[in-house]
Amino acid sequence: MTDQRTAKPVIAATGLFTPPQSISNDELVASYNLYAERWNARHADAISDGSIDAKTSSSTEFIEKASGIKARHVMDKASILDPEIMEPRLPERSDDEPSMMAEIGVKAANMALERAGRDPADVDAVLCACSNMQRPYPAMAVEIQDALGCGEGFGFDMNVACSSATFGIQTAADFIRAGHARSVLVVSPEITSGHLNWRDRDSHFIFGDVATAVLVESSDIAPADHWEILGTRLKTSFSNNIRNNFGFLNRAHPETRDDDDKLFVQEGRKVFKEVVPMVSAMIADHMEKLDIAGTQLRRLWLHQANANMNRLIAHKVLGHEASDDESPTVLDEYANTSSAGSIIAFHKHSADLVKDDIGLICSFGAGYSAGTVFIRKAA
Ligand SMILES: CC(C)(COP(=O)(O)OP(=O)(O)OC[C@H]1O[C@@H](n2cnc3c(N)ncnc32)[C@H](O)[C@@H]1OP(=O)(O)O)[C@@H](O)C(=O)NCCC(=O)NCCS
Repeated sequence: MTDQRTAKPVIAATGLFTPPQSISNDELVASYNLYAERWNARHADAISDGSIDAKTSSSTEFIEKASGIKARHVMDKASILDPEIMEPRLPERSDDEPSMMAEIGVKAANMALERAGRDPADVDAVLCACSNMQRPYPAMAVEIQDALGCGEGFGFDMNVACSSATFGIQTAADFIRAGHARSVLVVSPEITSGHLNWRDRDSHFIFGDVATAVLVESSDIAPADHWEILGTRLKTSFSNNIRNNFGFLNRAHPETRDDDDKLFVQEGRKVFKEVVPMVSAMIADHMEKLDIAGTQLRRLWLHQANANMNRLIAHKVLGHEASDDESPTVLDEYANTSSAGSIIAFHKHSADLVKDDIGLICSFGAGYSAGTVFIRKAA
């Protein structure tokens, strides 16, 4: 059994599932513009008498300049791009089949387990930590626990929007410190295409689908090649600037059940202006507490929502303009994948770091919510 005096939570391994289908900005914009053209033709009279505004076209140049996004992976490309549908079509599965979230979560989790050399039977807890749950219960985490063949432990779902994975890492680390578990999987299946309004020019380019997994373990059982968790910190501060009003009470007000606010909506400019200083201050404060200087940070794996936000935050943290090597970007290929973004960045851009290198995994998003996880390569 774990010796509570010496066991420390570490990141043992990560896993990633990337859906094979991808949509480029050009494909996305062509589909949106065809939709807008047809919509304008259908509403020509109302547009010409001034009672409604015509839809204006989207542009690849705007998307790349404003966000840094060039493409996104999705679970169902054809229906999203069909201007008469513009939603993913993911047929409902029977209760005897794996749910889609569990299916992709298991793929990412299996990669993390294989990389750590961990037998699933020795995993004590599974957290399904992500922005959107496809059903309230049974928890996807319990389904994933069962599908992986994890032993006698427990699992539960947790949603802290874009910060779900970092909140999950701290929760897992606390379980280990308290002696409740020695091996905890934090799984983030993000099928964001289901809550994105592909008919909204302001936001249709933002999200992509993916699944990630982080295996958090007690240092006494983790593989030697792990990452020590030096410190974690979580923060929330209420804001309406990123919101999704979808929920079980929607059926109680059928007159507004299909309104656009039942999908993702945001005041992007306000989010940008408010979150950059909030997160920069949070990181600085946490660094001071841990006695880590900007010059000691080898790499930042920041939340992947906007390349310009990350540039500003990284500059504040490091004290100079960050190179791609210091603050890698994955949102050009993946777009915003909510809680999974900083974990994808870590998964894809951490193998080259060496013993004692220090880095930061950082998330921020709806709530507002933010999480910081400072880590050091152990071997
Ligand atoms: C969403 C975001 C990329 C938008 O960029 P922005 O520079 O703030 O853009 P704005 O919404 O202010 O729009 C600027 C102009 O571009 C236009 N525009 C918006 N969408 C467009 C599109 N798809 N194509 C072309 N032009 C577009 C707007 O109409 C506006 O035009 P105007 O100046 O004539 O009024 C950016 O605000 C952002 O990423 N914010 C942070 C969001 C975030 O982190 N969210 C967390 C989500 S989990």
